[in-house]
Amino acid sequence: MSFDPDKMLRKGVVSLEPYVPGRSIEDVQKEYRLDRVIKLASNENVLGPSPLAISDLSISFSDIHRYPDSGSKSLRNSLGIYNKVDSSSIFIGNGGDDVLSVLSRTILNDGDEVILPTPSFAPYEHVSRLMGAIPVLIPLENFEINLDGILESLTKKTKLIFLCSPNNPTGKILSKNQLLRFLESLPENILVLIDEAYVDFVERDKSVDTVSMLKEKSLFILRSFSKIFGLAGLRVGYGIGNSELINFMDRVREPFNVNSVAQSASLAALNDSDFKNRVIKLVLDGRELLYAGFNRLGLKFIESQANFIFVEVGDGDKISNELMSRGIIVRPGSFFKNKEWIRVTVGNSEEIRIFLEKLKEILP
Ligand SMILES: Cc1ncc(COP(=O)(O)O)c(C=O)c1O
Repeated sequence: MSFDPDKMLRKGVVSLEPYVPGRSIEDVQKEYRLDRVIKLASNENVLGPSPLAISDLSISFSDIHRYPDSGSKSLRNSLGIYNKVDSSSIFIGNGGDDVLSVLSRTILNDGDEVILPTPSFAPYEHVSRLMGAIPVLIPLENFEINLDGILESLTKKTKLIFLCSPNNPTGKILSKNQLLRFLESLPENILVLIDEAYVDFVERDKSVDTVSMLKEKSLFILRSFSKIFGLAGLRVGYGIGNSELINFMDRVREPFNVNSVAQSASLAALNDSDFKNRVIKLVLDGRELLYAGFNRLGLKFIESQANFIFVEVGDGDKISNELMSRGIIVRPGSFFKNKEWIRVTVGNSEEIRIFLEKLKEILP
């Protein structure tokens, strides 16, 4: 069969770039014949999965001949209580990625403009292009989201604004005042998605209660079980937003978008406050260890409110490749169009020590 992409594909699909995932541990082990590989590339949980989620697996696996609960009702109710909102304001997705995808499929039309601070999380542009929307890229200013630049670029066609706080890859957050001032300056009918996949790693005195802003504002909050609860492989994320919008998103999503094992394990993880606190402590301590190490090496870095740090190393691709050949996977900054930088996930103290040792060996 002949295949002419311009004639066969949806318009938005032709311009899509493939997603480039981080290299897996097994891949790197095989390629470089290494016994041990440390992966600090995908901002996964430093302690592994929540133990309560793991204990739940043996129970939930025995039921996999049944279809999952289509509405993820128990998880939705618990997340309502957890976030002090009505469960009708919660949307559950097959990972945060699915929430992004369903939201864009629900609201975006061909030709709508979507504002994307850049660099930020790559799927925002992907889901927008797929729907035929026009991405309007607003570069960060001094690594901060340029809110004034966003306001200046609004047009009648602007439909959606993606804000990531803490931003991936910088780890910087928007303050409460910045966010309130911004939301107050926005015309009606523009939805702001604030991606809080890393919100649990924000220092307590800097954290912003975005849920309390939901009532008056056109806001949609994205959260994930992949980071703080260590369930990236199970794929659960959720959105908090206007219940009418969520009602429509529920019509757009696949009927069984979240599998039963994932629903059950997430429910268990949500009660694992001991695990959550241990993870937060390890990440906050780990950030300090990394800052100290970068300072000793004379490297510029951005202070982060997430479980990763963006650091300037010279030639980011070369350093990433050399680290990989020594058994450490990080994310090169070229992925975020900052080729002098790398993004490194905060590991445990041993992983951080080994990473800093190898980095010292490699740096010119
Ligand atoms: C900023 C940001 N948002 C959302 C996600 C999506 O997370 P998931 O689809 O694993 O829930 C990620 C994953 O890395 C992320 O970095």
